[in-house]
Amino acid sequence: MKEKVIAIVNQKGGVAKTTTTLNLGAELAKAGEKVLLVDFDPQSSLTIALGQFDENISSIADLMQLEIEDKELLDKEDIMIDIYGMDLLPGSIVLASTELFLINATCREQILKTVLAKYKKYYDYILVDCGPSLGMLTINALTAADSVIIPVEAEYLSAKGMELLLRSVAMTKRKLNPGLKIDGILITRVDKRNNLSRKIIQMVRDAYESLNIFESQIPERIAVGKSLSKHELVAGFEKNSDAAIAYKKLAQEVLAK
Ligand SMILES: Nc1ncnc2c1ncn2[C@@H]1O[C@H](COP(=O)(O)OP(=O)(O)O)[C@@H](O)[C@H]1O
Ligand SMILES: [Mg+2]
Repeated sequence: MKEKVIAIVNQKGGVAKTTTTLNLGAELAKAGEKVLLVDFDPQSSLTIALGQFDENISSIADLMQLEIEDKELLDKEDIMIDIYGMDLLPGSIVLASTELFLINATCREQILKTVLAKYKKYYDYILVDCGPSLGMLTINALTAADSVIIPVEAEYLSAKGMELLLRSVAMTKRKLNPGLKIDGILITRVDKRNNLSRKIIQMVRDAYESLNIFESQIPERIAVGKSLSKHELVAGFEKNSDAAIAYKKLAQEVLAK
């Protein structure tokens, strides 16, 4: 097993973090990789999108709490949900209060890293779908990760938020996780007819020369949104749609890393 942990991060909501986690995961699984999706957003959109949301099942929030209290974690079989050829570590709204417990925890930035250490050996890729904040949960994700993928809409690339995000990544790398890499920026929800997008992408390429921008860009397509709300994967929804092909290409770029 490759045991690679990739955090899908951007403090802005609606930039397709969850869509990317789901579809990149599905494409990696189709390529024969063992994939775990971690729903690390209190809003639990990933778990909901997969039709698995249930307040009565064990979730990542339980594992975080057990680790904070230094108790034994659950066995893989007792928490992971097998779905579309992947495993899902479900999310929970309780994660919002986990964030408060973290503040006084010993090694508070390392809790997710320690949790994932128990399950890593079963997987090639663990994708962590982060919530829309740069709080303690996201710092935990950045500390647990080998690398980061930043989905972003072209329109927001040049915005202040990007600077803030890159600074958080750099700070985590410096202080907590020296091996942390940025796999790249993924441009999502691209409207090819929109000239603005193209101009901004060029601007960003110039501004952040050292930063990889994935060749594959995800087009804005109704089917992507619909497939999520219908609890289906893009890839399964419209097999040969350009959005599905874009996610397949992204998976190839990730595999080539
Ligand atoms: N390529 C796309 N084309 C159309 N709609 C998209 C696309 N990617 C994401 N969406 C929609 O945008 C919304 C936000 O996406 P989501 O993945 O939940 O973002 P985030 O996790 O960053 O908040 C969802 O309704 C989703 O279905
Ligand atoms: Mg999300």
